[in-house]
Amino acid sequence: MVAQPNAQVVRLGVLGHGVVGSAFVKLVTQQSDQILARSGVRLEVTKVCVRDAKKKHNLPKGAVLVTDSNGLVQSADVDLVVELMGGIEPALKLISESLGKHKPVVTANKALLAKHGVELFAAADAASTDLLFEAAVCGGIPLIRPLRESLRGEPISRVMGIVNGTTNFILTKMSEVGADYSVALAEAQKLGFAEADPTADVEGHDAAAKIAIIASIAFGTTVRAEDVYVEGISKLTAADITIARKFGYAVKLLGVAELDATTSMVSVRVHPALVALNNPLAAVRESFNAVLVDGESSGSLMFYGRGAGGEPTASAVLGDVIDAAINLRKGTHALLGAFKSTKLKEMSAINCEYMIGLEVADKPGVLHAVTGVFARNGVSIRAAEQDGIGEDARLVFLTHDANEAAVQNCLREFKSQDVVKHVGALLRVVANS
Ligand code: NDP
Ligand code: HSE
Repeated sequence: MVAQPNAQVVRLGVLGHGVVGSAFVKLVTQQSDQILARSGVRLEVTKVCVRDAKKKHNLPKGAVLVTDSNGLVQSADVDLVVELMGGIEPALKLISESLGKHKPVVTANKALLAKHGVELFAAADAASTDLLFEAAVCGGIPLIRPLRESLRGEPISRVMGIVNGTTNFILTKMSEVGADYSVALAEAQKLGFAEADPTADVEGHDAAAKIAIIASIAFGTTVRAEDVYVEGISKLTAADITIARKFGYAVKLLGVAELDATTSMVSVRVHPALVALNNPLAAVRESFNAVLVDGESSGSLMFYGRGAGGEPTASAVLGDVIDAAINLRKGTHALLGAFKSTKLKEMSAINCEYMIGLEVADKPGVLHAVTGVFARNGVSIRAAEQDGIGEDARLVFLTHDANEAAVQNCLREFKSQDVVKHVGALLRVVANS
């Protein structure tokens, strides 16, 4: 270790030593000299908390493994708390207590922030201390800081992108090598991308938490995960992906936060979406994430990189820890800004193009019956295709710009028609080029 007479030591208590926690502790230990040389702060991990201390954990010299999370927060030899355990409780209580004791907190816990962020940001402000969370959104990609700092004067019209690595990994494997959904999910879990309960990934809840946090920062408004319209990828089939490709689209699980300039309402949603094959988002493969930010003067900006995995996420955590440590020693903290309460746009009010697949009886009059449903609901068809599947047929329609409520009415009518055997996935076109 390089001796530096003016070095200011900041002692870290790390809650959690799993995929991200262990990568963080390793990184901070490896980078210690470098951090000291660049920032004048020496970071020391003094305590690491896990649930099960019988598991083997490699800790740096001087760090103690504990199971009492509350004791870690209260400990006199912890100046800054790094929360990498996940979940709502006890993380909420522990972070609140740390902030209450004026100990800065760095967290990667998007589920918690998307539910209790407003209260926690207020608690951090009241305690004049830091609550930093770059790693909570898109792992190793710097996105929160650019939105909060570099783009703070920029009116943002839309932020959208691939914000979940697990589902992008699964969709890539399904579309490129015809992998089975559950095999691809098991591989993502093995690689450490998936949440402890992977339902959060595949049903879109992890992406909803992230887009809620992004929308809050980008539009300065309070958005919670529960306000976000969510559809996951668990019902998508290989056939949906193949058909989309035939029409010139890739299927991606997207988080979208978009300002309606007429009503000033923000629409925040997560669903499988069609992205034109020549759009940069279509080329984002495996567990990579990418987010497009549209600003009035900046134009379109793209943030791309590893959105999941221990090391990339640990890198974002470390950046925040260094900032919070410097702030702590200077007696200052980052400003989170104010969040207003705004009415969000209802999903039923959005407009876009849609792809709808139907399995129908292959006999005279069926096409007429089906297209009649579209006509009655004012939905105009842009393209259609028919394939034979045994005695039945698969009809795929691509609509012109249509209203969500009208399209949902069509789906309800199709489900009640005898000639319609199965109503397939509804896919929304989000990016045409
Ligand atoms: P893991 O499940 O791999 O690790 C969780 C760690 O926290 C384990 O060491 C576990 O201990 C400990 N822990 C959990 N609950 C408690 C408790 N009540 N008391 C004490 N220790 C506890 O999770 P990850 O590292 O994957 O994720 C951590 C956080 O980072 C989550 O909020 C996640 O959403 C977020 N994140 C994860 C990313 C990733 O790619 N994995 C990327 C970005 C963010 P034990 O093993 O003994 O049970
Ligand atoms: N489970 C998350 C993902 C981890 O797959 O993106 C990163 O937040």
